[in-house]
Amino acid sequence: MFRLPAGWSIISLNLKTGLKRSNRATSEAVNSPKIPLSKRAQDSHKHGRTKVFVREIKPKVYAVGAVDWDRRLFDELIPLPDGTTYNSYLLRCSNTTALIDTVDPAKESELLNNLKQVGVDKIDYLISHHAEQDHSGTIPKILELYPEVKVVCTPKAKQYLQLLLHIGEDKFMPVEDGDTITVGHKTLRFIYAPWVHWPETMLTYVKELQILFTCDLFGSHLAGSDLYATDEARVYTSAKRYYAEIMMPFKKNIKSHLEKIRDLDIEIIAPSHGPIYPRPKLILDAYEDWTSDNVKNQVVLPFVSMHGSTAKMVSYLVDALVERGIEVMPFNLPRTDIGELAMSLVDAATIVIAAPTVLTGPHPAAVYAAYLTNALRPKARFASIIGSYGWGGKMVDTITMMLNNLKVEMIDPVVIKGLPTEEDFAALTGLADQILAKHKEIGIA
Ligand code: FEO
Repeated sequence: MFRLPAGWSIISLNLKTGLKRSNRATSEAVNSPKIPLSKRAQDSHKHGRTKVFVREIKPKVYAVGAVDWDRRLFDELIPLPDGTTYNSYLLRCSNTTALIDTVDPAKESELLNNLKQVGVDKIDYLISHHAEQDHSGTIPKILELYPEVKVVCTPKAKQYLQLLLHIGEDKFMPVEDGDTITVGHKTLRFIYAPWVHWPETMLTYVKELQILFTCDLFGSHLAGSDLYATDEARVYTSAKRYYAEIMMPFKKNIKSHLEKIRDLDIEIIAPSHGPIYPRPKLILDAYEDWTSDNVKNQVVLPFVSMHGSTAKMVSYLVDALVERGIEVMPFNLPRTDIGELAMSLVDAATIVIAAPTVLTGPHPAAVYAAYLTNALRPKARFASIIGSYGWGGKMVDTITMMLNNLKVEMIDPVVIKGLPTEEDFAALTGLADQILAKHKEIGIA
């Protein structure tokens, strides 16, 4: 039988009795006091139905989304070692109700049950920050059940929602940057944030509540029983992985979004993946750092080796760099979680790709790593290539061409024939010296 994890705080609205938790001060809500399960929720458990968990993050502001504990891949590409969440929020004030984003279609029933649990019989506004289906995929069902709702979004999001979900023209209420709507006594201001990773995204700021709803921005793929970023070290790591995999190619745009929200009074940042930030400084400072031009005294070393020669070169270079006080992050590509590789690229000053040749070109695992690195556009300043070949090929030319998005200075590759000799190891010593010298030039070593 399912047991409520320790520390869960459940806001349960019993439809029959109308019993509900009274409005609380924010600090109480953030401290997540334990609230007993309602009779309705207990019945849900008894009959094996979907569990219903609704939590109040501020008076009349509810988290009504879903936790996806089991999802292990996003976009059939991004590993999710810790699952994810699809956060949806409900604001009720006077007679007006706004739903902020929906959930992935796989979790539709959980959102609908949560809305039932809160007793929602009418939704005036559905604020769609972002048209990607993990947040928008349940909009058609909401429109079916609550036909009066207007979908509030950017004009570009409207185009994508029509394209991807075939939503009718009459359902939309497009808004411009800075536009506001009122939900009871609360003012919702929309802040355009294009290219968080899609072109149509916006954020919502509620001044009276000092909440910033940010959809993907500041998110993390982290399923958990804690609604809040209480374990800050864990959430930081998860948010960094998320930034690396999804946002890093757009860091210039994200920097401008950070400028745009810098002067807002923000007590809570509520993203649409992962925990809510009751201490926004945690994630705001992290994003300032990640999107800055600062690099660290680190070398990322994705490698693949078929018969051990390239592996010997990698092992030697790792030792030589460590001896010079440089942090090294080697990734054995056929066994690597690409999310870990992406995360390592956020701060590193230098990337060295190591590969043997296969059919005259680089090993396909190295091609994949080079393609991914190029697509993620990390802020690295230097790059090089090492590897061993049998009878020639164009490994260096191919990998160099594949890194054409990066603004890096190439350091002379060390590419050798067969098993490395003392002379080859000396060349790797030279490469380590050059990397150290470059890091010193930019003041990080
Ligand atoms: Fe979480 Fe870009 O969707």
